[in-house]
Amino acid sequence: MASHVLEARGLSKAFGGLLAVAEVDLAVAEGEALGIAGPNGSGKSTLFNLLTKVPFAADSGTVLLDGRPLDSVPAHAIARLGVARTFQRESVFPSLSAIDNVLLAAEGSRKARGFAARLRLAERALDGAGFPATLHNALAGQLPVFLRKLVMIASALALEPRVLLLDEPASSLTPQEIERIRALIARLLDSGMTILLIEHVLPLLTAVSHRLIVMDQGAVIASGTPAEVIANPAVVEAYLGKKT
Ligand SMILES: Nc1ncnc2c1ncn2[C@@H]1O[C@H](COP(=O)(O)OP(=O)(O)O)[C@@H](O)[C@H]1O
Ligand SMILES: [Mg+2]
Repeated sequence: MASHVLEARGLSKAFGGLLAVAEVDLAVAEGEALGIAGPNGSGKSTLFNLLTKVPFAADSGTVLLDGRPLDSVPAHAIARLGVARTFQRESVFPSLSAIDNVLLAAEGSRKARGFAARLRLAERALDGAGFPATLHNALAGQLPVFLRKLVMIASALALEPRVLLLDEPASSLTPQEIERIRALIARLLDSGMTILLIEHVLPLLTAVSHRLIVMDQGAVIASGTPAEVIANPAVVEAYLGKKT
Protein backbone atom coordinates (compact mmCIF):
# COMPACT_ATOMS: atom_id res chain seq x y z
CA MET A 1 0.00 0.00 0.00
CA ALA A 2 1.25 3.47 -0.90
CA SER A 3 2.21 5.56 2.10
CA HIS A 4 0.94 8.74 0.47
CA VAL A 5 -2.61 9.15 -0.73
CA LEU A 6 -1.85 12.22 -2.87
CA GLU A 7 1.51 13.19 -4.23
CA ALA A 8 2.80 15.78 -6.70
CA ARG A 9 6.18 15.69 -8.41
CA GLY A 10 7.60 18.68 -10.24
CA LEU A 11 4.25 20.31 -11.00
CA SER A 12 4.56 23.44 -13.14
CA LYS A 13 2.14 25.76 -14.91
CA ALA A 14 2.88 28.94 -16.86
CA PHE A 15 0.46 31.62 -18.02
CA GLY A 16 2.35 33.27 -20.87
CA GLY A 17 5.61 34.42 -19.32
CA LEU A 18 4.38 34.01 -15.74
CA LEU A 19 5.34 30.80 -13.96
CA ALA A 20 2.34 30.48 -11.62
CA VAL A 21 3.41 27.09 -10.20
CA ALA A 22 7.08 26.19 -10.38
CA GLU A 23 8.31 22.63 -9.85
CA VAL A 24 6.15 21.92 -6.81
CA ASP A 25 6.60 18.62 -4.95
CA LEU A 26 4.28 17.57 -2.17
CA ALA A 27 3.03 14.42 -0.51
CA VAL A 28 0.03 14.00 1.75
CA ALA A 29 -0.55 10.97 3.98
CA GLU A 30 -3.97 9.39 4.46
CA GLY A 31 -5.90 11.27 7.12
CA GLU A 32 -3.47 14.18 7.12
CA ALA A 33 -4.42 17.87 6.98
CA LEU A 34 -1.93 19.82 4.86
CA GLY A 35 -2.22 23.59 5.14
CA ILE A 36 -1.12 25.84 2.29
CA ALA A 37 -0.23 29.46 2.99
CA GLY A 38 1.32 32.19 0.88
CA PRO A 39 0.70 35.73 -0.31
CA ASN A 40 -1.89 36.55 -2.98
CA GLY A 41 -0.77 35.42 -6.40
CA SER A 42 1.73 32.88 -5.04
CA GLY A 43 0.11 30.02 -6.97
CA LYS A 44 -1.98 28.29 -4.29
CA SER A 45 -5.26 28.12 -6.21
CA THR A 46 -3.43 27.18 -9.41
CA LEU A 47 -1.83 24.30 -7.49
CA PHE A 48 -5.33 23.02 -6.64
CA ASN A 49 -6.24 23.27 -10.34
CA LEU A 50 -3.23 21.16 -11.27
CA LEU A 51 -3.88 18.55 -8.57
CA THR A 52 -7.49 18.00 -9.69
CA LYS A 53 -7.18 19.04 -13.39
CA VAL A 54 -10.18 21.28 -12.69
CA PRO A 55 -10.26 23.37 -14.76
CA PHE A 56 -6.81 22.61 -16.22
CA ALA A 57 -3.84 20.29 -15.74
CA ALA A 58 -0.14 21.02 -15.33
CA ASP A 59 2.23 21.82 -18.19
CA SER A 60 4.66 19.35 -16.67
CA GLY A 61 5.04 17.15 -13.63
CA THR A 62 2.94 14.30 -12.28
CA VAL A 63 0.16 13.87 -9.75
CA LEU A 64 -0.13 10.46 -8.09
CA LEU A 65 -3.10 9.03 -6.19
CA ASP A 66 -2.23 6.03 -4.01
CA GLY A 67 1.06 5.94 -5.90
CA ARG A 68 -0.68 5.70 -9.28
CA PRO A 69 0.21 8.42 -11.80
CA LEU A 70 -2.83 10.35 -13.03
CA ASP A 71 -1.16 11.62 -16.22
CA SER A 72 -3.72 10.06 -18.54
CA VAL A 73 -6.70 10.23 -16.13
CA PRO A 74 -9.25 12.95 -17.00
CA ALA A 75 -10.65 15.38 -14.41
CA HIS A 76 -14.03 13.68 -13.99
CA ALA A 77 -12.33 10.34 -13.35
CA ILE A 78 -10.04 11.92 -10.74
CA ALA A 79 -13.17 13.19 -8.97
CA ARG A 80 -14.64 9.69 -9.10
CA LEU A 81 -11.45 8.28 -7.65
CA GLY A 82 -12.17 10.43 -4.60
CA VAL A 83 -10.48 13.81 -5.01
CA ALA A 84 -12.86 16.77 -4.68
CA ARG A 85 -12.30 20.50 -4.41
CA THR A 86 -14.00 23.75 -3.58
CA PHE A 87 -13.28 27.03 -5.35
CA GLN A 88 -12.03 30.27 -3.89
CA ARG A 89 -14.56 32.18 -5.97
CA GLU A 90 -18.20 31.69 -5.28
CA SER A 91 -19.38 28.73 -7.30
CA VAL A 92 -23.02 28.20 -6.31
CA PHE A 93 -25.84 28.49 -8.82
CA PRO A 94 -27.83 31.37 -7.27
CA SER A 95 -31.14 30.56 -8.99
CA LEU A 96 -31.11 26.94 -7.80
CA SER A 97 -32.04 25.78 -4.31
CA ALA A 98 -29.35 24.56 -1.94
CA ILE A 99 -30.37 20.93 -2.47
CA ASP A 100 -30.44 21.31 -6.27
CA ASN A 101 -26.92 22.76 -6.20
CA VAL A 102 -25.67 19.71 -4.33
CA LEU A 103 -27.76 17.34 -6.48
CA LEU A 104 -25.95 18.66 -9.55
CA ALA A 105 -22.64 17.81 -7.91
CA ALA A 106 -23.97 14.38 -6.94
CA GLU A 107 -24.38 13.63 -10.66
CA GLY A 108 -20.63 13.04 -10.59
CA SER A 109 -20.96 10.35 -7.91
CA ARG A 110 -19.46 6.98 -8.72
CA LYS A 111 -21.96 5.08 -6.56
CA ALA A 112 -25.31 6.84 -6.39
CA ARG A 113 -27.33 5.79 -9.43
CA GLY A 114 -30.82 7.11 -10.00
CA PHE A 115 -32.52 10.20 -8.65
CA ALA A 116 -33.53 8.80 -5.25
CA ALA A 117 -30.00 7.65 -4.44
CA ARG A 118 -28.55 10.99 -5.52
CA LEU A 119 -31.10 12.90 -3.46
CA ARG A 120 -30.15 10.90 -0.36
CA LEU A 121 -26.49 11.56 -1.10
CA ALA A 122 -27.12 15.30 -1.52
CA GLU A 123 -29.12 15.46 1.72
CA ARG A 124 -26.37 13.60 3.55
CA ALA A 125 -23.76 15.96 2.11
CA LEU A 126 -25.69 19.04 3.27
CA ASP A 127 -26.14 17.48 6.73
CA GLY A 128 -22.46 16.55 6.81
CA ALA A 129 -21.52 20.16 6.07
CA GLY A 130 -23.76 21.33 8.92
CA PHE A 131 -26.26 23.03 6.60
CA PRO A 132 -29.67 23.59 8.29
CA ALA A 133 -32.24 20.96 7.31
CA THR A 134 -34.96 23.62 7.13
CA LEU A 135 -33.20 25.50 4.31
CA HIS A 136 -32.63 22.73 1.73
CA ASN A 137 -35.17 24.34 -0.60
CA ALA A 138 -34.01 27.94 -0.14
CA LEU A 139 -32.55 29.63 -3.22
CA ALA A 140 -28.78 29.54 -2.91
CA GLY A 141 -28.51 33.15 -4.10
CA GLN A 142 -30.65 34.32 -1.18
CA LEU A 143 -28.59 32.56 1.50
CA PRO A 144 -26.03 34.43 3.61
CA VAL A 145 -22.40 33.94 2.60
CA PHE A 146 -21.70 31.38 5.36
CA LEU A 147 -24.51 29.12 4.17
CA ARG A 148 -23.47 29.56 0.53
CA LYS A 149 -20.01 28.39 1.59
CA LEU A 150 -21.56 25.33 3.23
CA VAL A 151 -23.40 24.59 -0.03
CA MET A 152 -20.05 24.73 -1.85
CA ILE A 153 -18.48 22.36 0.67
CA ALA A 154 -21.51 20.05 0.55
CA SER A 155 -21.21 19.95 -3.26
CA ALA A 156 -17.68 18.60 -2.83
CA LEU A 157 -18.80 16.18 -0.09
CA ALA A 158 -21.47 14.80 -2.44
CA LEU A 159 -18.64 13.12 -4.32
CA GLU A 160 -17.81 11.24 -1.08
CA PRO A 161 -14.16 12.23 -1.41
CA ARG A 162 -11.22 10.62 0.33
CA VAL A 163 -9.21 13.76 -0.37
CA LEU A 164 -10.86 17.18 -0.04
CA LEU A 165 -9.20 20.38 -1.27
CA LEU A 166 -10.62 23.53 0.35
CA ASP A 167 -9.68 26.90 -1.18
CA GLU A 168 -10.10 29.68 1.41
CA PRO A 169 -13.30 28.39 3.02
CA ALA A 170 -13.11 31.04 5.77
CA SER A 171 -12.75 34.19 3.67
CA SER A 172 -15.44 36.83 4.39
CA LEU A 173 -16.70 34.95 7.46
CA THR A 174 -17.13 36.16 11.04
CA PRO A 175 -15.02 34.66 13.86
CA GLN A 176 -18.02 32.57 14.98
CA GLU A 177 -18.53 31.23 11.47
CA ILE A 178 -14.80 30.51 11.12
CA GLU A 179 -15.03 28.48 14.33
CA ARG A 180 -17.84 26.45 12.74
CA ILE A 181 -15.66 25.84 9.67
CA ARG A 182 -12.85 24.71 12.00
CA ALA A 183 -15.19 22.27 13.75
CA LEU A 184 -16.44 20.99 10.38
CA ILE A 185 -12.89 20.34 9.15
CA ALA A 186 -12.10 18.59 12.45
CA ARG A 187 -15.16 16.34 11.98
CA LEU A 188 -14.13 15.49 8.42
CA LEU A 189 -10.61 14.62 9.61
CA ASP A 190 -12.10 12.45 12.38
CA SER A 191 -14.02 10.55 9.70
CA GLY A 192 -10.68 9.69 8.07
CA MET A 193 -10.71 12.23 5.25
CA THR A 194 -7.46 13.71 3.94
CA ILE A 195 -7.61 17.51 3.64
CA LEU A 196 -5.62 20.15 1.79
CA LEU A 197 -6.52 23.62 3.04
CA ILE A 198 -5.60 26.95 1.47
CA GLU A 199 -6.35 29.69 3.97
CA HIS A 200 -5.38 33.26 4.80
CA VAL A 201 -7.00 33.04 8.22
CA LEU A 202 -3.86 31.84 9.98
CA PRO A 203 -5.45 30.82 13.30
CA LEU A 204 -7.73 28.43 11.36
CA LEU A 205 -4.87 27.17 9.21
CA THR A 206 -2.58 26.49 12.15
CA ALA A 207 -5.38 24.98 14.26
CA VAL A 208 -6.37 22.29 11.76
CA SER A 209 -3.15 21.59 9.82
CA HIS A 210 -0.82 18.79 10.84
CA ARG A 211 1.71 20.23 8.45
CA LEU A 212 2.02 23.51 6.54
CA ILE A 213 3.66 24.52 3.30
CA VAL A 214 4.20 28.12 2.25
CA MET A 215 4.25 29.18 -1.39
CA ASP A 216 5.83 32.30 -2.86
CA GLN A 217 5.99 33.09 -6.57
CA GLY A 218 4.88 29.60 -7.51
CA ALA A 219 7.41 27.71 -5.39
CA VAL A 220 7.25 26.02 -1.99
CA ILE A 221 9.55 28.12 0.20
CA ALA A 222 8.91 26.46 3.57
CA SER A 223 7.31 23.38 5.05
CA GLY A 224 6.99 21.81 8.46
CA THR A 225 4.75 21.90 11.50
CA PRO A 226 2.73 25.12 11.84
CA ALA A 227 5.02 26.30 14.67
CA GLU A 228 8.17 25.61 12.63
CA VAL A 229 6.82 27.35 9.55
CA ILE A 230 5.65 30.48 11.31
CA ALA A 231 9.08 30.85 12.93
CA ASN A 232 10.84 30.64 9.53
CA PRO A 233 12.38 34.00 8.46
CA ALA A 234 11.77 33.21 4.73
CA VAL A 235 8.04 33.00 5.49
CA VAL A 236 7.95 36.35 7.26
CA GLU A 237 9.83 37.86 4.31
CA ALA A 238 7.38 36.40 1.77
CA TYR A 239 4.46 38.01 3.61
CA LEU A 240 6.08 41.32 4.47
CA GLY A 241 7.87 41.83 1.15
CA LYS A 242 11.45 41.36 0.12
CA LYS A 243 14.03 44.09 0.32
CA THR A 244 15.19 44.99 -3.18
N1 LIG B 1 -6.33 31.45 -15.61
C1 LIG B 1 -5.29 32.28 -15.45
N2 LIG B 1 -4.79 32.99 -16.50
C2 LIG B 1 -3.73 33.81 -16.34
N3 LIG B 1 -3.08 34.00 -15.18
C3 LIG B 1 -3.54 33.35 -14.10
C4 LIG B 1 -4.66 32.45 -14.18
N4 LIG B 1 -4.88 31.92 -12.95
C5 LIG B 1 -3.94 32.46 -12.14
N5 LIG B 1 -3.14 33.30 -12.82
C6 LIG B 1 -1.98 34.03 -12.29
O1 LIG B 1 -1.13 33.06 -11.66
C7 LIG B 1 -0.60 33.57 -10.43
C8 LIG B 1 -1.02 32.65 -9.31
O2 LIG B 1 -2.42 32.81 -9.10
P1 LIG B 1 -3.22 31.97 -8.03
O3 LIG B 1 -2.88 30.53 -8.17
O4 LIG B 1 -4.64 32.35 -8.15
O5 LIG B 1 -2.59 32.52 -6.66
P2 LIG B 1 -3.12 32.42 -5.16
O6 LIG B 1 -4.25 31.45 -5.12
O7 LIG B 1 -1.93 32.02 -4.37
O8 LIG B 1 -3.56 33.82 -4.81
C9 LIG B 1 -1.11 35.00 -10.30
O9 LIG B 1 -0.12 35.86 -10.80
C10 LIG B 1 -2.36 35.00 -11.17
O10 LIG B 1 -2.61 36.28 -11.67
MG1 LIG C 1 -6.18 31.70 -4.54
